[in-house]
This record gives sequence, structure tokens and C-alpha cells, in this order.
Amino acid sequence: MDMLLGILLLLACVRASLIDRRPIVERFNPIRTSSNPTTPLQVGNGNFAFGSDITGLQTFLPFATMSSWGWKNDSLPPGKTVQDVENYRGVSWDNHGRLVQYDFNGGDPDIEQWLISNPNRVNLGRIGLAFHTRDGRNVNTTEDDLTDKHQELDLWSGTLTSAFAWEGERVTVTTIASQESDSVGIRVESSLLRSGQLNVFVDFPWNDGKAKFSAPFVGRWDVPANHTTELSIGRNLDEARAVIRHTMDASTFFTSLGGDAFEINRDSESMHRYTVKPLESASSFAVTVAFSPAGSTPLPSFRETHESASATWDEFWQSGGFVDVLTGSTDPRAVELQRRIILSRYLLRVNEAGDTPPQESGLVNNGWYGKFHMEMYFWHSAHWALWNDWELLRRSSDVYSRFLSSSIRRAQVQQNWDAGARWPKMTDPSGRSAPGQINNLLIWQQVHPIVFAEYEYRAFPTHDILKKWKNVVKETADWMASFAWFNESSGVYDIGPPMYVVSEDTSPNVTRNAAFELAYWDLGLELASGWLERLGEEAPGSWASVKEKLAALPMENGLYSVYEGIEGNFWDDPAFTNDHPALVGLHGWLPQTKNLDVKVAATTAEEVWSHWNISNCWGWDFPMLAMSAARNGQPDKAVEWLLHPSFQFDDAGMPIGGLLWQRGGVGMGVRTRQDFRKMDGM
Ligand SMILES: *[C@@H]1O[C@H](CO)[C@@H](O)[C@H](O)[C@H]1NC(C)=O
Ligand SMILES: *[C@@H]1O[C@H](CO)[C@@H](O)[C@H](O)[C@H]1NC(C)=O
Ligand SMILES: *[C@@H]1O[C@H](CO)[C@@H](O)[C@H](O)[C@H]1NC(C)=O
Ligand SMILES: *[C@@H]1O[C@H](CO)[C@@H](O)[C@H](O)[C@H]1NC(C)=O
Ligand SMILES: *[C@@H]1O[C@H](CO)[C@@H](O)[C@H](O)[C@H]1NC(C)=O
Ligand SMILES: *[C@@H]1O[C@H](CO)[C@@H](O)[C@H](O)[C@H]1NC(C)=O
Repeated sequence: MDMLLGILLLLACVRASLIDRRPIVERFNPIRTSSNPTTPLQVGNGNFAFGSDITGLQTFLPFATMSSWGWKNDSLPPGKTVQDVENYRGVSWDNHGRLVQYDFNGGDPDIEQWLISNPNRVNLGRIGLAFHTRDGRNVNTTEDDLTDKHQELDLWSGTLTSAFAWEGERVTVTTIASQESDSVGIRVESSLLRSGQLNVFVDFPWNDGKAKFSAPFVGRWDVPANHTTELSIGRNLDEARAVIRHTMDASTFFTSLGGDAFEINRDSESMHRYTVKPLESASSFAVTVAFSPAGSTPLPSFRETHESASATWDEFWQSGGFVDVLTGSTDPRAVELQRRIILSRYLLRVNEAGDTPPQESGLVNNGWYGKFHMEMYFWHSAHWALWNDWELLRRSSDVYSRFLSSSIRRAQVQQNWDAGARWPKMTDPSGRSAPGQINNLLIWQQVHPIVFAEYEYRAFPTHDILKKWKNVVKETADWMASFAWFNESSGVYDIGPPMYVVSEDTSPNVTRNAAFELAYWDLGLELASGWLERLGEEAPGSWASVKEKLAALPMENGLYSVYEGIEGNFWDDPAFTNDHPALVGLHGWLPQTKNLDVKVAATTAEEVWSHWNISNCWGWDFPMLAMSAARNGQPDKAVEWLLHPSFQFDDAGMPIGGLLWQRGGVGMGVRTRQDFRKMDGM
């Protein structure tokens, strides 16, 4: 499943003691001399991230401060009640004589839309610098007023240092995210502090689910009347000096400030901006700003934050897998490949190591209202297993246990299947499935938990791991077996219709026996049976029958087809060759499954190279193409795919290309573009 990474990691392990990691990491520290208008430099801890402009804060550009826990519900559509939400039922479609109820095209369209866009992920707040004249009047400063700008993100310690001059005076800002709480430690150094010309401000935006995509910025500052903030000054100086309570509709979030003594005042009663003015006459001011869903939260000092965060980052770089493609290489492409490996490791650690699966754009900005997609969880998070970062993966991989009972209800009560758990696609921490045809009819997310389980057992072959995943593995495979339908006339088990394939671009009512999904079903049932065997238990007979008699992978002219019965000329039809080329995933992303002919898979992959609209590929398509090339014995081609001109990353490691909101995707292998033509109903 991981040939390319596997080989690289193997090499890395063999040489582990030899790699001097730190200089390799630091060589790729992003350095900026002006803000990038669409991509921030970020600090964060996986559950929380803070995006900065050139000042190390959000002074000029309101990049997001987002978390895995910060979600809100909009108020219900006018005249609707919670009862209407509870009563929402989608349409029932026939599935080989079985009526299956899905969450789409049901009853009230306003309620359906509300369920799609709620809860939505909020931007928790903005922190910036405020500039003043000596006699205390605000100066409307822009980035152009700063000179000698220089900013460096030290990847090894997770520390962002930003320096510039304003009115001839130097300012240095150090920004670091705590690894123990969702807070950011800030230290400002400048003589402007002593003269009272430099303060810090915090500000709070309104958030709602009106827009599916919010990028590069999240939230609105122009509707202050729609939300409230309330300041309380702390009495206990060991904790927060000030707490601001931010309420939007029924949700409340807390921002606590501590550190050096300051005075805090609301700029105006009608706005949500507060100015934080240092009290001591010193040329350094350190403040910690903590965000939380509940009132009180620990407030480590700047120094504590800095020390503990540096230690955690050091440990991250030292302890996980490491790939050095530079040493000894004369290939000019090595530097760019190495740069991406390093920046992508940093960004994934900041954005995609939270308690829930990450959304497509991590904590950079919002797509799909900030919700996450369970089919993408494999691409976003399986790499943690391969890099040996188990603590980070385990933060979220128990999502399957958390979602198990609601997924069993979905399968057996709502959808009327005989057995098992049906995992949602687009969802949020509650596990509720967002309405939508694709959301309900996509099936490839189903097999993922079995793969996550297998990875964990491979790393820790213990009885505890077998027990830990047993119910998830069993319920997952039970639904896979239920979903397969025995076709009396052909004597095989069919999967679908209705179903959506990985590329989401075929008609669900005619899509039967899709190649990738059949191979993945075979793998999943095989691994699930093996799981029970290790526990000394027998796998249900239904798994074995389905596996034995599963429809063969569809073939036409010696090549695998997207699904059985697809038009013979689909290779030349842009309707079918314009989206995720899952046919190359058959062997590369997947290991060789029992129902796969690797020669046919290799020929099919090459047909994809010459017939797919590669200029319309994005994100994880390229790593998938690379993994297939590697598995088919073409490592050079694999590197070419990774460095393809349509798969480029900016100085911060964020993807280039696509629309503005799309630029916020993070790291290599993360989806960054989407096709609006198919987005209806999601
Ligand atoms: C949003 O509303 C739903 C439905 O009433 C509820 O189950 C959920 O807990 C709410 N979530 C938040 C973050 O308020
Ligand atoms: C797909 O099938 C369902 C019922 O099984 C039907 O209601 C729907 O209209 C069909 N869609 C298309 C595009 O034919
Ligand atoms: C500050 O200056 C910018 C750029 O000149 C301008 O767009 C903005 O409206 C000004 N803001 C205030 C509060 O005067
Ligand atoms: C703000 O509140 C007003 C009055 O309730 C409402 O009409 C308006 O749509 C709200 N604005 C937003 C962005 O929600
Ligand atoms: C049974 O399989 C055949 C061959 O794949 C197919 O043409 C037919 O439509 C299937 N029957 C049903 C009821 O789906
Ligand atoms: C290929 O993709 C590009 C977008 O990158 C699009 O403009 C073009 O129309 C597509 N070509 C075909 C034949 O669909």
C-alpha cells in the first residue's frame, strides 16, 4: 500500500543513526520578506493552528485561528424547530428489491441545507499589532509602512520569528503554539513598547455556514451586531488576566490572556476588538492567548510554551521516520523532493494531527463548512502509521469506535441492511452524515478502518490491538458483505448500483462492479477474516461467500474499466477521464489483491498516463500515480509524478494553483482542487 514510502522509510531506518536530521530540516525553513496574500505561515499542534502574516500575527491579513473543537450551529431556518431537524428523512431508493433510505432529497429543503452546513467550523479570533502615535492616537498602518521585513519559520522548533522596522524602530515578534493547550505564545520586542506606540489587539469575527468554502480568510468582521463578546478581568493572576467570552447564536468560545501585566480595553461597544496595552515600561512584552470551548484553561507563560513546544518539535523530528534523499544524490530534483517532504511533515503535524480526522484544508481555512470527509481520512492520516507517529494517529483513529453505534444505526435501522456499520462520508465530530447524493452513495471510505487496524497490528502485533479493533473490523466487513448482492443470473456478488465511484463522476444508478471498489472489497474482506482468525474466531460465512464469488474486476480489451458495462470508448470520453484516476490505485495504493492481475493493472496504469486529463488531476492523485509507478517497477516515473508541473507547492509548502480557496490545502497528498460541477447536494 505504501511501496514508495515503504522503500524510502526502509532506507531511512537502515541509515537512521547516520542521518543528521536537523540541518536537513532547517535548510527548508520558510523565509519571507512580505506576506503572501493567500497562504499564511502557521504555528500549531494538530488540534489548533494559528496563521500569520508578515508580522508573525494577523495584523494586516486575518488568517485563521482554527481548532478541531471549534464548531457552531447557525440558528434554524425561520419557523423551523429542533423537532423538524430530528424529523428529517431522506429519500428511499430501491437496491435490488430492498428499500434503502438515504439522506438526500428529503422533505424540507431548508432543513436539508441546514443539516449540510451545520455545524460549521469557526475562526476563533484574530491577534495583531496596533500602532500608535506617541500621544496615543491610532495610526492606520499598512504592510507597506513596514521596512526591513524578514520572517523565518524555524521548523525544528516550531518557532516563527518576524522582524521589521516601523518609523525607524525595530520590532521582533516571536510566535509559538503550545503543544499542551490550544494557545499561542507571543513575545514582542521593541522600543516602541516603551514609548507606548505598539500594542496588541484581539478581535472576533462572526461565523456561519452561508459559504461552503471560506478562503483564504474565515469569518466576517462586518456584522458585529450579530454576535456578542464580553470581557472579564481575572482576579487570580496565576491564571488568566482577562477572559473574553464570544457568543455566536447558541455557541460560546473563550479566549484567555495571560503573561506580562497589561491593561485591556474594548475599542468600542459596538465592535469586538480589544486593545491590550503593556503596563510595564519595558522593551519586551510576552502574552499567551488561549482558546477553549470552556471557561478556564491553563495559561502557560511564553517561556514555558517556548520550551515545551521546542522540545515536542525536536522529539517529533528525531523520533519518527525520516527520509534523506539529498545525501549522496546528484539528481537535481532531490532538493525539491526533500523540501516537500520536510514542509509537508511540518504542515501535517500542525494541521492534520487532531482528535478528529482533518478537513481537506486542515486548519488553514474552510472547505465544505469545515467538515471532514471519511474517504479522505486514509490520504490525510494513514501516513502517520508509515512514519511511525502512532501517538498522533491515535488521537483520531478511535473515531471509528466513536462513530460505531451511529454507523450501525445508519446501516441497520435507517438503511435497512442486514448487518454491519455503514461509515459516513462528509461529517463532523458528531458523526452525523451530511445530506447529499455523493455523501450517501460513495463506498470507498468503508474499507479504510480495516486498513488502519492492519497497519496498527503490523506495528504492534498484540492481542490488545486485535481486541481494540475487533468490533470495528467486524461491523465494517459485515456491511461490506450485506451490500454485495448475489446476482442469480451471473452467479456472482455484485456491488451497486446504486453507488458512486472514487471519481464521483459516473451515474450512480448504472454504476455496478467498479474496479477499484471490487479490489478494495476483496482486500478488506481478506484482512477482516484474517483479523478474526488471529483472535481464534471464525469469520462469518457471508464474508467468505462474498469474497469467493465477488464479481471479477471489469475488463475490456485487456484493460481494467472503471465499472462493468461502461462505454467501451470511455478512455476517450472526457466525462470519465477527468477526475481521480482510481484505476492506477488498483496496484500501488492497494497491494496486490487476490482478484487482481498485476500485468493488466500495469498496462491499465499506462493507459491512464496517456488518456487521462492529467491537467485536471490534483492533490492526492499525484502521489497515487507515483505509488502505482513505483509498484509497477518504474521509480523514475514515480518521482516525475511527484514533481509534476500541476503539483507544485509554494514557499510555505502549500499547494499552488486552483481558485483562491483551494490554495489553502496543506501538504503533499492533500486534495486542493475540487470540481464545482459535481458539488451539488454536498
Ligand atoms: C448542532 O445541532 C445538532 C442538532 O440539533 C446537535 O446535535 C449538535 O450537538 C449541535 N452542535 C453544536 C456544535 O452546537
Ligand atoms: C436513480 O434511481 C432512483 C430510484 O431507484 C430514482 O428515483 C432516480 O431518479 C434515479 N436517478 C437517475 C438519474 O436516473
Ligand atoms: C486604513 O488604510 C487602508 C489603506 O489605505 C484603508 O483601506 C482603510 O480604510 C483605512 N482604515 C481606517 C480605519 O482608516
Ligand atoms: C445579522 O443579523 C440580521 C438581523 O437579525 C440579519 O438580518 C442578518 O442576515 C445577519 N447577518 C448575517 C451575516 O448573518
Ligand atoms: C446480473 O448480472 C448481469 C451481468 O453482470 C447484469 O447484466 C444484470 O443486470 C444483473 N442483474 C441485476 C438484476 O442487476
Ligand atoms: C482537462 O482539464 C482542464 C482543466 O485543467 C480543462 O480545462 C479541460 O477542458 C479538460 N479537457 C477535457 C478534454 O476535458
